[in-house]
Amino acid sequence: MFDKKIKKYDLIIFGTKGDLARRKLFPALYQLEKLLKLYKNTRIIGIGRANWTQKKYKKIIKNSIENFSNIKIKKKIWIKFSSRLYFCNIDVNNISDFYKLKKILIKSNKMRIYYFAIPQNTFKNIFKGLKKINCNTSSDRIILEKPIGNSLNTSKKINNQVGKNFNEKQIFRIDHYLGKETILNLISLKFSNSIFFTNWNNTTIDHVQITIAEKVGIEGRWSYFDKTGQMRDMIQNHLLQILSILTMSTPINLESDNIRNEKLKILKSLRIINDKNINRKTVRGQYTSGLIDKKEIPAYINEIDAVKNSNTETFVSIKANIDNSQWYGVPFYLRTGKRLPIKHSEIVIYFKNNNNNLFYKTKKLPLNKIVIRLQPNEGLDIFIINKIPKLDSKYKLKEIKLNFNYNKSFKKYRLYDAYERLLLESFFGSQSLFVRRDEIEASWKWIDSIINSWKKNNSKLELYKAGTWGPKSSENLLKKDGREWNKIN
Ligand code: BG6
Repeated sequence: MFDKKIKKYDLIIFGTKGDLARRKLFPALYQLEKLLKLYKNTRIIGIGRANWTQKKYKKIIKNSIENFSNIKIKKKIWIKFSSRLYFCNIDVNNISDFYKLKKILIKSNKMRIYYFAIPQNTFKNIFKGLKKINCNTSSDRIILEKPIGNSLNTSKKINNQVGKNFNEKQIFRIDHYLGKETILNLISLKFSNSIFFTNWNNTTIDHVQITIAEKVGIEGRWSYFDKTGQMRDMIQNHLLQILSILTMSTPINLESDNIRNEKLKILKSLRIINDKNINRKTVRGQYTSGLIDKKEIPAYINEIDAVKNSNTETFVSIKANIDNSQWYGVPFYLRTGKRLPIKHSEIVIYFKNNNNNLFYKTKKLPLNKIVIRLQPNEGLDIFIINKIPKLDSKYKLKEIKLNFNYNKSFKKYRLYDAYERLLLESFFGSQSLFVRRDEIEASWKWIDSIINSWKKNNSKLELYKAGTWGPKSSENLLKKDGREWNKIN
């Protein structure tokens, strides 16, 4: 049922016509409707330049929900949901257009939640417009999509601009990975299980691997992506957020700022990678043509809208270190790329060898490891060494797998889409799943140093075939430490 603790609100989406709104926001909002999680009088006001009638707008939203998700729309729910939808035709460059929004908002005393699913260069005008119509008060909220800038400097500029209009408690910066069930579960896994909690440090852990492999390519976003690259698109946000949640110390409690304080400490403890060690610590790649699922995939530079001599990376792997007492000496290998063989994200934690006198003569035993599958096939495997049951006085050992799968253990539950959860949290006003300004800035500081060192050193862009696991050097990054990437099937 709708939660009474939530203040009454209207949701205003800038960029309602865009990809994000159609693929993610509207399907998530529809699901929240179905779950009775939307306040009964909430209106969802889409802002855009198109000359749509209300009827056309509703039709477009309905099609988007059907086309971009596997949701089957139910008539009764659609009637309720569509009664909330309004389209407001505004060109954000035209301040006087905002009076149209005022007309819609003025009749209500509800809190306003503004969702900015729109490029950052439009923010200034939107803030001007909202000010003009007196529609940004201290009780309103703003949700911002990544990327927040493309460097420390530009992110500061944007944050300053937003900060002049909204205070930090009103700002909800989205990193959609924080809305995924398996990422949230990292906190319970670590802090509610003593077998993990007591072993979560450099005395027991050998190294950690985090992989976000994507099968998709650029999906019609070439000009955005080419200015961004995989480093800014995936590492600056998703991978660093996963890393900081995985390694943070116990927060005082589960309140937003206490969690975010601990994450920030990790981000600030990341050892800087600079032009002295850049080539030893990072690999950057770009895909060439290849086969995925037996389908011909064009090279990155031959995708639609591409420029042939692009030097942008579509693959990155990094050896990172956290210089604090808990993690000193434990390497964290991060890897992410587009057009890899499968879509798969995982964290693999390798434990140190248990050196003792009993089995030292046996061939080298594999390290114990925990594989946390973030998506798909969400779950967790623990690999341990077991005696093979034989009538043999000798111990013959074998690695076996203990398996937990959400599908099996939580049959009655579905894993909610990240946007369902994040939207709901923003309605609640709870910020723990949103990124604070200082976290973003600490991440950018670390990322800037890598990107600047790449430039300064003219670091090589290595080609890899679409449908493979990235350039050879990515394997070598681990090989030279006597390790290898966890095999993903
Ligand atoms: C987005 C990136 O933030 O995350 C995309 O901009 C990427 O390039 C996407 O494909 C991956 O998200 P998910 O949830 O599909 O792993």
